[in-house]
Amino acid sequence: NEIYLHGLADQVPPFTTDATLVESVARERMAPGPFGYVSGGAGCGDTMRANRAAFGRWRIVPRMLTDATTRDVATTVLGTPMAAPVLLAPVGVQSIVHPDGELATARAAAALGVPMVLSTASSYPLEEVADANGAGQRWFQLYWPNEPEVCASLLHRAKLAGYSALVVTLDTWTLAWRPRDLDQAYLPFLRGTGVANAFTDPAFLAGLAKPPEEDQAMAVLRWVSMFTGQDKRWDQLPFLREHWDGPIVLKGIQHVDDARRAADAGMDGIVVSNHGGRQVDGAIGALEVLPEIVSAVGDRLTVLFDSGVRTGADLLKALALGASAVLLGRPYVYGLALAGEDGVRHAVRSLLAEFDLTLGLSGHRTPADLTPESLRHA
Ligand code: FNR
Repeated sequence: NEIYLHGLADQVPPFTTDATLVESVARERMAPGPFGYVSGGAGCGDTMRANRAAFGRWRIVPRMLTDATTRDVATTVLGTPMAAPVLLAPVGVQSIVHPDGELATARAAAALGVPMVLSTASSYPLEEVADANGAGQRWFQLYWPNEPEVCASLLHRAKLAGYSALVVTLDTWTLAWRPRDLDQAYLPFLRGTGVANAFTDPAFLAGLAKPPEEDQAMAVLRWVSMFTGQDKRWDQLPFLREHWDGPIVLKGIQHVDDARRAADAGMDGIVVSNHGGRQVDGAIGALEVLPEIVSAVGDRLTVLFDSGVRTGADLLKALALGASAVLLGRPYVYGLALAGEDGVRHAVRSLLAEFDLTLGLSGHRTPADLTPESLRHA
């Protein structure tokens, strides 16, 4: 109805509703640096392509004459209600693509009724983003700091500001070889905008001889050393439990044994993800490992998924293969770049509308009706 009525009022969307075209529209309209930051992957982009190809190998098998006229796609994941089985993935330094950055994303997420996952590397302090998100649902993504005091402090602040679940990203203990960023002397650091959470953190500031305003280089170096290096091990997860009263989700799981270890460690969930192909180029497409991980740990853990979801059909496929919900990365970030808060809303609503129609037209009424039998491996 809304679409027909908008047509009457000559209201056209802020940019294309064709999910496969959004990236090329963004390439035309964004500056090359920010576009490279968002679109780029590790190495030559092999794993980004593998992520997409993996979706192409599954096909939906539509069923007829089922009761699917009215659909209900709302769900609850780890205690968080959501209008659809979708979360906005943690994406750092969003002010690189739009001055309102994470604030616009937070407002759009609240309006859409889907949770946002705020990155540790956000351009705005987590408290300001929480204000912008208001009564919306929000989770906090942790890049696990090397100093326990800083870690505890970030978790404490996030909890106070109403972030209800913790997503711990394990695959980015150092940045991969990312030619798009390296060719520009690493844009996010040059802009120095992904440090807001650290630069407002009392435990982080306590370790500086001078405040960041007086010696920015020292502060940035402390930031880099705080979040780089692989000194974490499975037996340190209880530290996070001790300091986080709520669900904990490990992001970046790609091996069935790591999924089992997450379950053994008493985690609440995992995100099967290869960081959108931005870390290990040549790595397996994320969707390829989803079925075996779900069959190994699906009864013990909430399994979420990201990497390569672009369309409503992709979302349907990931859910049918056992994901409880999906995190969207680049699609909403292009929306943000193209039209700020409105752009995030348009990009996500388009994908959700397509999902809703595809769900119904293939004979399903709710996401819970989806099973691997809804698909065939081609
Ligand atoms: C990311 N991602 C990410 N993940 C994370 O845990 N913390 C972060 O700060 C970031 N930052 C970030 C920046 C940009 C520009 C992108 C594109 C991605 C990874 C993100 O959460 C997610 O795993 C992928 O984006 C999912 O893949 P798609 O949907 O982009 O293909």
